[in-house]
Amino acid sequence: MGPPGKSQSEPRLIDLHPPRADMRADVLEGLSRPQKQLSPKYFYDERGSRLFEDITRLPEYYLTRTETGIMQAHLPEMAEWIGPHAAVIEFGSGTGEKIRRLLQHLESPVASVTVEISRNHLLASADRLAAQHPELDVIAVCADFTQPFELPSIPRATRNLVFFPGSTIGNFAPGAALGLLKVMRQVAGDKGSLLIGADLVKDKAILEAAYNDSQGVTAAFNLNLLRRINKELGADFKIDAFRHCAEYNEDERRIEMYLVSQSVQSVNIDGTSFAFSEGDRILTEYSHKYELEPFAEMSASAGFKVQQVWTDPQRLFSVQYLQAV
Ligand code: AVI
Repeated sequence: MGPPGKSQSEPRLIDLHPPRADMRADVLEGLSRPQKQLSPKYFYDERGSRLFEDITRLPEYYLTRTETGIMQAHLPEMAEWIGPHAAVIEFGSGTGEKIRRLLQHLESPVASVTVEISRNHLLASADRLAAQHPELDVIAVCADFTQPFELPSIPRATRNLVFFPGSTIGNFAPGAALGLLKVMRQVAGDKGSLLIGADLVKDKAILEAAYNDSQGVTAAFNLNLLRRINKELGADFKIDAFRHCAEYNEDERRIEMYLVSQSVQSVNIDGTSFAFSEGDRILTEYSHKYELEPFAEMSASAGFKVQQVWTDPQRLFSVQYLQAV
């Protein structure tokens, strides 16, 4: 990784020094609430990230393969909407595979900017991108993308495209999702646009199967939070004394994931004790599902107009192209 501006084929790292999440304080505060909760951002330690990769390949977890299918079917059309000489800015890039596929279809893209809080993921994916696209200005921004941040200037770009695939928007409660779209609108700028994956409302049975898979991978992913807290905070959660639960809340249009205490028990974390009755639940994740119209309304409140929606034949998932207005 070279210093800023060194050469076009080497990634530039811009470290905005995102504040390190204070996991201990977050966990103690979350478990002290009347509805105990743990933030889903703590799912993704090394084991959790591997389990999530496994989830994306499960037969019941339709989201990833459906989004990939939509992208593959419509990438040329998406590229037309996006236009030439774009700078593509991906929020939370993970392995960087999706942005690489998108870039292959764009006309003379000038830059790829990946914004990620995890430095390791960021550097690995930026290096791969730079190797594959020596013509691109590859910029890795280490930042918390939920907070407004300054984008480096990209002189050759005629427009910015923010790319946010994977239905990650669904993991934010409505107010936070709107806040995030506003950050994206600011990053996109007045001529910019957003290409976003959003999961759609559908039959409860399909949704609940996707989050209660038959191989128990989602259960292991959810319970891994407790393992992580034991390992990193010296807690004494008995993993077997909790079970995974995911249910669809039709009124709120979201999957809610919980860890349910199987007995009366207490758990110690760093000198603080938390009491659980049998059946007490720790909320670990929301995964919102959208109808197209409310999604367009939320986008409009953030300054985006939905121009095009692509779905699969079963209308399970959507990829949407939004223009800044
Ligand atoms: C990352 N995110 C979009 C996933 C989802 O579907 O909400 C996380 C996940 N949780 C359980 N399975 C997958």
